[in-house]
Amino acid sequence: MHDPADDPTTRKHTDEPGRLAEAGYQHVDGGQAAAATIDWWSRSAAEYLADHGEQLGAADFRWCPEGLREADAHLLGDLAQLRRAQVLEVGAGAAQCSRWLRAQGVAALASEPAAGMVAAAAQLDAATGIEVPMVQADARSLPLATGSMDVVFTAFGALSFVPDPQQVHAEVARVLRPGGRWVFSVTHPLRWAFPDDPTSAGLTAHRSYFDRRPYAETDTEGRVLYAEFHRTLADHVRDVVGAGLTITGMVEPEWPAENTTVWGGWGPERGALLPGTLIVTTELR
Ligand SMILES: C[S@@+](CC[C@H](N)C(=O)[O-])C[C@H]1O[C@@H](n2cnc3c(N)ncnc32)[C@H](O)[C@@H]1O
Repeated sequence: MHDPADDPTTRKHTDEPGRLAEAGYQHVDGGQAAAATIDWWSRSAAEYLADHGEQLGAADFRWCPEGLREADAHLLGDLAQLRRAQVLEVGAGAAQCSRWLRAQGVAALASEPAAGMVAAAAQLDAATGIEVPMVQADARSLPLATGSMDVVFTAFGALSFVPDPQQVHAEVARVLRPGGRWVFSVTHPLRWAFPDDPTSAGLTAHRSYFDRRPYAETDTEGRVLYAEFHRTLADHVRDVVGAGLTITGMVEPEWPAENTTVWGGWGPERGALLPGTLIVTTELR
């Protein structure tokens, strides 16, 4: 009998293996998938932070598993400008990036829909003594005034977990003031053609880059337990431009020789040959 848990080409997320019936690229109800995935993040916050908390730091701003730091990349602008700005992080998780910004004297506000992640952020606030104001919200519907933000960003939050990332870009464009900046990192679109494996076994394309079916784990009734959605590079460009934003740059961070860590499908072996992360910088003009 086919057991999805045995398929080596995909890394399973569900915390209820007994319920898992299918894991793979399949059509799903997007609305239910997005809600179930927020629930998954909420339930899995503690385990995720136990696995990756050391790499993320408590008050550190890394854009990606490659390790590119905002302190070196300045993708949000220089710190002197940021200290005069209203900055919002969406899909913030435990708000490590916003906590780093606040430690630099920047008025950063974090938003995150998963209650478990909001609670984890409060724990990191207490542990570090650096408090990040947090609103619990889906990035597609932010409880913030139009034109109230100078800079909005996310490091791997929100966009990959919704069927309608256009709605995230539109909502960010709404809360930005004219001239404001939106910067986001996502899994590099090319990676979707390859198995979720950081070793040489992950170097052979095994599916079409153009197949937009999400990766989803579903139960016996077809209900989604966890999902991630794929956008090609051209899709990302179309989504951003469609929201009235202008692309000002893209970064494909290279894997640095000194980074020996593995994070899911990211690691030094494959990172030496293929990009793992795409960062897009945009402005509302
Ligand atoms: C990979 S984490 C990114 C957060 C942090 N930078 C990190 O690396 O841990 C993904 C985050 O996106 C959030 N997320 C999922 N669906 C979302 C949505 N619809 N709107 C906003 N954030 C969402 C998850 O709850 C999770 O905290």
